[in-house]
Amino acid sequence: MDITVNDVLAQKGKRKLTMLTAYDYPLADLVDKAGIDMILVGDSVANVVLGLDSTTKVGMSEMIHHAKAVTRARKHALVIGDMPYESYQLNPEEAVKNARRFIEEAGCAAVKLEWFDDCLEVTRQIIQAGIAVMGHIGLTPQTADKIGGFKVQGKDASQAERLIRQAAELERLGCFSLVLECVPDKLAQIITRKLRIPTIGIGAGPYCDGQVLVTHDLLGLFQRFTPKFVKKYVDLSPLISQAIEKYKNEVIAGDFPAPEHCFSIKEEELKKIPDEKEIN
Ligand code: KIV
Repeated sequence: MDITVNDVLAQKGKRKLTMLTAYDYPLADLVDKAGIDMILVGDSVANVVLGLDSTTKVGMSEMIHHAKAVTRARKHALVIGDMPYESYQLNPEEAVKNARRFIEEAGCAAVKLEWFDDCLEVTRQIIQAGIAVMGHIGLTPQTADKIGGFKVQGKDASQAERLIRQAAELERLGCFSLVLECVPDKLAQIITRKLRIPTIGIGAGPYCDGQVLVTHDLLGLFQRFTPKFVKKYVDLSPLISQAIEKYKNEVIAGDFPAPEHCFSIKEEELKKIPDEKEIN
């Protein structure tokens, strides 16, 4: 089944929604085949794939490049392109143009936009252009310097009230869902109860309508830092290291390639090849 924005909306209160990140064809293919509802081409690609120290350092051209690889693999999931920091710096019109690139050039079905000072006007214009938008509040890594750093958000009543208002405003503008990142579980519960659109939590506890994780964290493929909210379902890094080391040792020892990895030539053809000294 092809998952649409309306399907996502319709699941609220019925069953939990699942979302994972992907940035390339092979992982997107596995995520899609596993039946995950939504694939986010997140700007977290900056940290977990490109080796950058901030998501603000990834631009539109990289995001479109990765989004195209993901949509090539997609059969069922709703693919969402994450609007990078640079995409809305100039003005709302430029942001709309960039959102449209995710849809028309990369084949995404929607975009995600983190909360920032002027995000309401940008969100309004993107939705008015006919593009589905997923909001993102709480810990917003692109503007972490403005919210006290990479910390849990909404821990006191006034911060919590501000987040509830932001959520309500984004719903009013027409967002089809909302990521809640690093907020207390009981606050996520209040926001989830208040909204008609689904909330997707990451570090926001079990009461959200759905969950998202960075796939590289879930698979143990990103070793630099593991946030408290991550569950590593498998630790692939040591397995990959072992495989690479084994390959290296087998090549050095002459054990790889073995006969089963080789192509043969008939003996009579081999005899017809002139002596190599005669070939220049
Ligand atoms: O870029 C990303 O991976 C995200 C998720 C953490 C929601 O925005």
